[in-house]
Amino acid sequence: MKIPELTPRMMRDWLLEEDSARLEQLWYMANFVRERKVGQDVFLRGLIEFSNRCARNCTYCGLRAANGDIARYSLSERDMIGCVGVALELGIGTLVMQSGEGVALETEQLLRFFRFVRHEKKMALTLSVGELSDVEFLAFREAGVNRYLLRFETSNKALYNHIHPAKKNCVEGNQKNGNHTDSDRIRMLRKLRELNFEVGSGVMVGIPGQTVDDLVNDLLLFRELDLDMVGIGPYMPHPETPLALEFEDHKSSYVCSNRELLTYKMIALTRIILPDANIPSTTALATLNREHGRVLGLQRGANILMPNITPQEYRSEYSIYPEKAGTSMGPDDSYAAAVSAIAQAGRTVGAGKGDSLRYLARKGNH
Ligand code: 5AD
Ligand code: SF4
Repeated sequence: MKIPELTPRMMRDWLLEEDSARLEQLWYMANFVRERKVGQDVFLRGLIEFSNRCARNCTYCGLRAANGDIARYSLSERDMIGCVGVALELGIGTLVMQSGEGVALETEQLLRFFRFVRHEKKMALTLSVGELSDVEFLAFREAGVNRYLLRFETSNKALYNHIHPAKKNCVEGNQKNGNHTDSDRIRMLRKLRELNFEVGSGVMVGIPGQTVDDLVNDLLLFRELDLDMVGIGPYMPHPETPLALEFEDHKSSYVCSNRELLTYKMIALTRIILPDANIPSTTALATLNREHGRVLGLQRGANILMPNITPQEYRSEYSIYPEKAGTSMGPDDSYAAAVSAIAQAGRTVGAGKGDSLRYLARKGNH
């Protein structure tokens, strides 16, 4: 089968397509490319939400500094080492360490933990702690962190600025990078590439005010940045955040009201334009459609799942949006849910680290 080169016009037409028989063609193409380029394996990443502290005030996220309704926590080093043991027992070769931004990092302690994971346990290590300075990126790279996730959230600059208040409006002590603007993140993503990270980014689908043309531009930016990993999830309104009020005004718009279907379309189109990238079927998708979201993501282009291995007692406090899938589970159940979704999708659990083939191809190792 010959997969057509997708023009922006074709991307737009697919995003607007509502005929389910025609959409079968899109799912078929994405699944075909996925199978041919990254095969049947679904790789598992053990997600550790190691701190819910955050200095920022993104208007969509429940962890924003202004939300006083959650108990803030940071895992101890001992807890984190416990998570490593859990991951290894489950046969998971990659950890994804995620937290809020700016106030969660005891850098020296983290660097020690990262060296332990990489050099003693020989696992792959992904960090997702928001915007950092070049010096910090370098220090983490030197400690062995080999992958970094930083979603640009939307390529529409005005919308980006609208949902990301300037840093000067955020809590004290986190003003070192100046204003929180989109160009920062694009520059940082290029810097991460320069530092030889596997680079991941992504967007939310269904942000109030987002348009189909914005989504086309998101796809073009994925391609321009030549990403190794792309995470795409639906926007989920959180009642304790300002953006939830705006959602009320926009919820019948095409993008907001179709955000589950648009998320599948974005995953499928991303697979077609970046055939060998790693693309997760995201937790937000599994939250919006509890029964089928995870599996449909895998069947429409995704090849990664990120079972949560954070100790259960902390999970309800990592509430970036309400009723996040997996909140009432422990690591074993989250792992079992992932394995079950992989079986339902007719696929196999990948062994090993599951490096991005895109990254390896760029390095000339593949
Ligand atoms: N709905 C969906 N995704 C969200 N994120 C944060 N808040 C929400 C929300 N309300 C996503 C962002 C961020 C990642 C950590 O979680 O894309 O990059
Ligand atoms: Fe903090 Fe990230 Fe949430 Fe923004 S999206 S408030 S940086 S945790």
